[in-house]
Amino acid sequence: MQQQPIGVFDSGYGGLTILKELVQQLPEYDYLYLGDNARAPYGTRSFETVYQYTLEAVQWFFKQGCELVVLACNTASAKALRTIQQKDLAQFGAQKRVLGVIRPTAEIIGRFSESGHLGILATKGTVISESYVLETAHFFPEMTVFQQACPMWVPIIENGEHEGPGADYFVQDSINQLLSQSPAIDTILLACTHYPLLLPKIAPMLAPHIQVVSQGAIVAQSLANYLERHPAMAGNCSKNGQIRFCTTDSTSDFDEKGAIFFGKPIKSVHILLGH
Ligand code: DGL
Repeated sequence: MQQQPIGVFDSGYGGLTILKELVQQLPEYDYLYLGDNARAPYGTRSFETVYQYTLEAVQWFFKQGCELVVLACNTASAKALRTIQQKDLAQFGAQKRVLGVIRPTAEIIGRFSESGHLGILATKGTVISESYVLETAHFFPEMTVFQQACPMWVPIIENGEHEGPGADYFVQDSINQLLSQSPAIDTILLACTHYPLLLPKIAPMLAPHIQVVSQGAIVAQSLANYLERHPAMAGNCSKNGQIRFCTTDSTSDFDEKGAIFFGKPIKSVHILLGH
């Protein structure tokens, strides 16, 4: 029988922080992870480019036998998901589904905040898309959302400098800029799948009443609920507890850096997209 793993996509390593939680909450499923490291970062690219790259990745997942693909990347979810769902999905077959990370997060993020002032830290692309502002307004119309782009954070993390002293300046600077928008912010969402690696630096810079929320567990819980509500899809996904990792760039780099994001050793395979 053909394997039908759940596809998990990111521009690079960040989606591994989501995959880690998926595997923890839904260990029985098979997963196929793809990092488009050769073309990362996505956060500074145009809508058209992110859409094109993400569509190529989704097509690749479907060719590998996946029926369900999770875009474990806020930038791809913000800039490509809706168009893929509305325009492209039909041509791949009635069963296929692509889910993102923004909606599941927006659905519950309001529950974390007492003041109703939510801070969002994300890539420039996610901030400009206004996706979080629009999505949270559906579920928590009384909440006020403040956004701050952190263009230096992904490069710092991707270059393995997230624990070093050089990161402090850029982390503090982005946090200051966010908090200067409202003194009532009591919840900060890390709306980029890379950012949980900076949590040890972020948390001590904040007053104790401000909580920081990462998305991994939220997205995993949402996927578990989705599979419960869609038993046919859950039945189609293969369940051998296997995980495969693919990257569009160097496998040795991916294995070395990816292990930091995933928290366990990784052995990846190289693939090409857009050919
Ligand atoms: N992991 C991506 C996200 O969640 C950001 C990385 C990138 O800019 O490619 O937005």
